[in-house]
Amino acid sequence: MSLLRTFSRISYRLPKISASNPLPRKALSATCTRFYASRPKTLKERIEELIPEKQEEIKFVKKEHGTKSMGNVTVDMIYGGMRGIKGLVWEGSVLDPEEGIEFRDLTIDECREKLPKAEGGKEPLPEGLFWLLLTGEVPTEEQVRALSADWAARSAIPSFVEELIDGCPNTLHPMSQFSLAVIALQHDSNFAKAYQSGVEKKSYWQYVYEDSMDLISKLPNIVGRIYRNVYKDGKVPSIDPNQDYSYNLAKVLGYDGDKDFVELLRLYLTIHSDHEGGNVSAHTTRLVSSALSDPYLSFSAALNGLAGPLHGLANQEVVRWIFQLRDSVGESPSDEVVKEYVWDTLKSGKVIPGYGHAVLRKTDPRYTAQRDFALKHLPNDPLFKLVSQLYTIVPDVLLEHGKTKNPWPNVDAHSGVLLQHFGLVEQNFYTVLFGVSRALGVLAQLIWDRALGFPIERPKSYPTEMIRKMFEEQK
Ligand SMILES: CC(C)(COP(=O)(O)OP(=O)(O)OC[C@H]1O[C@@H](n2cnc3c(N)ncnc32)[C@H](O)[C@@H]1OP(=O)(O)O)[C@@H](O)C(=O)NCCC(=O)NCCS
Repeated sequence: MSLLRTFSRISYRLPKISASNPLPRKALSATCTRFYASRPKTLKERIEELIPEKQEEIKFVKKEHGTKSMGNVTVDMIYGGMRGIKGLVWEGSVLDPEEGIEFRDLTIDECREKLPKAEGGKEPLPEGLFWLLLTGEVPTEEQVRALSADWAARSAIPSFVEELIDGCPNTLHPMSQFSLAVIALQHDSNFAKAYQSGVEKKSYWQYVYEDSMDLISKLPNIVGRIYRNVYKDGKVPSIDPNQDYSYNLAKVLGYDGDKDFVELLRLYLTIHSDHEGGNVSAHTTRLVSSALSDPYLSFSAALNGLAGPLHGLANQEVVRWIFQLRDSVGESPSDEVVKEYVWDTLKSGKVIPGYGHAVLRKTDPRYTAQRDFALKHLPNDPLFKLVSQLYTIVPDVLLEHGKTKNPWPNVDAHSGVLLQHFGLVEQNFYTVLFGVSRALGVLAQLIWDRALGFPIERPKSYPTEMIRKMFEEQK
């Protein structure tokens, strides 16, 4: 068990804040998950209760530890994409190189077990995950149902945004259409209006909360419209106010008749939501919003980053690469033939999509969760078999190749093949689904950023010549 996990387990035993015990439960309380089952409160009410507690905790951490170092920054780190620099606070999740992601202190397996499910469903509802990310608490079924209803009630998009999407050529990548539509929603930003009217800083989070809830709610109608326009008949099925978010997402895409697909979306939206704060989509949201740009402008920036092939777009690249493999060597190639194909890709100077990770050093638990789903629902699917075969071959080849720090598969190595199985075969759309899920994680943190009054981000930069001189002068 990692040190991190040991810490978060200990946090269960820490005393609660009370009038007689005003000190926060040290820094560890950030990861404390409590099971909340008293009178049902709305998510907003619950966050409002938690804010003073978190503010006190941060005050305490800064007072006790504010001048202490979190580690060295080397020149290699600066040139290496800031890899390993500890420079961000992110409450919702933390990534351990060996254990993978924990949402608050729940692993993916624990989320699958503990978060509320739909009636007859086995996978967690992403509504529950959103509640967990924001509060550190597992919500009741009633609270989750209320969130589903709230999101369905907010789901309509303005007609000018519909027209904007309809006006896009089908050749414009779905991620670009997605980003464009999200920016257009900014027209109705509560936060932007409130800021202009001069509301006080401590109430910012409330407007950001409303914008975030609106934005998440409207995503199915946005991405459904893009999908139906680009690949189908342009008619978007309506949101069902009595159904959960994933069901409705499946519905607008035209797949609500398939219960297993709806279950896949519940799992998919849960596991792609958050991956601590340093990844491109999370960090862009934080950076842009730190200038007090509203959630629409901030999340649109995240989508632009997610659309890069080294980040979210890798899921479309994986399927493309597997199809090329299949086209060139057939559906049931021998291990030797697959190995040769992997080597050919590397020798041509390309990466093996879906393998490697900037932080993880083991198989991504998001990959494992999807593999588990596939073993249950599509064990004999030929593409799944190919994905499984690659899992037994690629890591050894990457190790022998000797460059990649982590030879194991990441989340993107698996997701596309599951979507293919259920008939959602349009690869250019895959990153859009990732984007819907990522909204849950980054917007949860954005609400906290404003509740805690985090300042504008402004790390220091230097030209290379100055860095060189800095050390030469020390000689
Ligand atoms: C995810 C990723 C961008 C992480 O990058 P990183 O932190 O710089 O990774 P590493 O430190 O292991 O990179 C060291 C070298 O190995 C290479 N490498 C990393 N993953 C590789 C892969 N899957 N195939 C081939 N080479 C890879 C890098 O390109 C780099 O080469 P360079 O020194 O010539 O620039 C990288 O592993 C990658 O490109 N993977 C494929 C794309 C992908 O699946 N993205 C989704 C991520 S969730």
